[in-house]
Amino acid sequence: MKRYEDLSPSLRCIMTPGPVEVDPRVLRAMSFPVLGQFDPEFTGIMNETMEMLRELFATGNQWAYPVDGTSRSGIEAVMVSLIAPGDRVLVPVYGRFGHLLHEIAERCGAEVHTIETGWGSVFEPGEIIAAMKRIRPDVVALVHGETSTGRVQPLAEIGQACREQDALLIVDAVATIGGIPVRTDAWKLDAVVGGTQKCLSVPAGMAPVTYNARAEAKLLKRKRVERGLRGGEVQPGEHSFVRSNYFDLSMLQDYWSPARLNHHTEMTSMLYALREGLRLVLEEGLEARYARHKLHEQALVAGLTAMGLALYGDPDCKLTVVTCVLIPEGIDGEAVRSLLLEHFGIEIASSFGPLKGLIWRIGTMGFSCRENNVLRLLGALEAALQRHGYPVACGRAVQAALDVYEAESG
Ligand SMILES: Cc1ncc(COP(=O)(O)O)c(C=O)c1O
Repeated sequence: MKRYEDLSPSLRCIMTPGPVEVDPRVLRAMSFPVLGQFDPEFTGIMNETMEMLRELFATGNQWAYPVDGTSRSGIEAVMVSLIAPGDRVLVPVYGRFGHLLHEIAERCGAEVHTIETGWGSVFEPGEIIAAMKRIRPDVVALVHGETSTGRVQPLAEIGQACREQDALLIVDAVATIGGIPVRTDAWKLDAVVGGTQKCLSVPAGMAPVTYNARAEAKLLKRKRVERGLRGGEVQPGEHSFVRSNYFDLSMLQDYWSPARLNHHTEMTSMLYALREGLRLVLEEGLEARYARHKLHEQALVAGLTAMGLALYGDPDCKLTVVTCVLIPEGIDGEAVRSLLLEHFGIEIASSFGPLKGLIWRIGTMGFSCRENNVLRLLGALEAALQRHGYPVACGRAVQAALDVYEAESG
């Protein structure tokens, strides 16, 4: 009989744009005993999680709770709930995850319009607003931080334009939440989806979402309660009800409300993890956390450039938490990544689609975003490049990063 060994995953230094290293306090929380999902002790934990999520999203919205599933499940829940078949949806695309929003909007039965800008840059707000005037969308769906290209799209002007044109603005803040500011109310974002496995240092498996009263008004028009749970409510017409059961936010919000209307079985251990991750964020303080992410990005960038490497993309819209590096000509990017993993236990990411083989993507997110990780990566990358025959400016990278740290502490 085959014998299966005890699990003993290696301790890695994970410098990808997610998943990242999980904070030990989060891992500890995941080992606590399971509670029943209607146990008052557990519903208390649900309520606390909602409170902390409101702070994280910088919102006074009533609704801020996690959808169970990876970040994509939160995106799908928000889109399938807020986009009715036949709605006009505008998706400005500037990387892989914009294409994902397009794909999901199509599956919702929407009339989808896209505008695209070259990968490595983002849109001028005026370009999106001009497209909105032309298309008159019911919904605009936009990525805040594109991990595929390492860019960040400014949102405030788009939020204002959506209010003026009575469109709903749905935002994928999977990569940015907890790492750079996401100001849901101030930027007038109607629905926002975050990720756990990036700047929150929690494993993948939940997707925090928030949405405001404008979004809820549309949702409630599409609400259909499961037959087995119905009282005498009026059900919407056959065409407009939300086409997913699991991802129907109108049912999920009933489960997260004091009514606790039965839906799925909550992921107890993941909720413990998220609660602990949020506690860590609020203990550190949001602004201090954003400043920490900025500092380590600066040290990383100083080190990479001192080594002689060039960064990819427009620096004016660089995403703090993801740094994209051009793979030097003649260097096999995958061989360098393998060397880093096998010999140094460090993981960095490759890329997708048109950027595959051209850039490496380095994440500085959450618990992984710390001085010893940045220094370790710079030293290891320098050694790996040298080993592959690239003429690195030896010894400079770590010194340049240390200069940044010293300037900050001095
Ligand atoms: C910007 C962005 N959106 C969405 C996703 C999808 O998230 P998940 O893989 O957790 O479903 C990712 C994952 O990498 C992402 O970076």
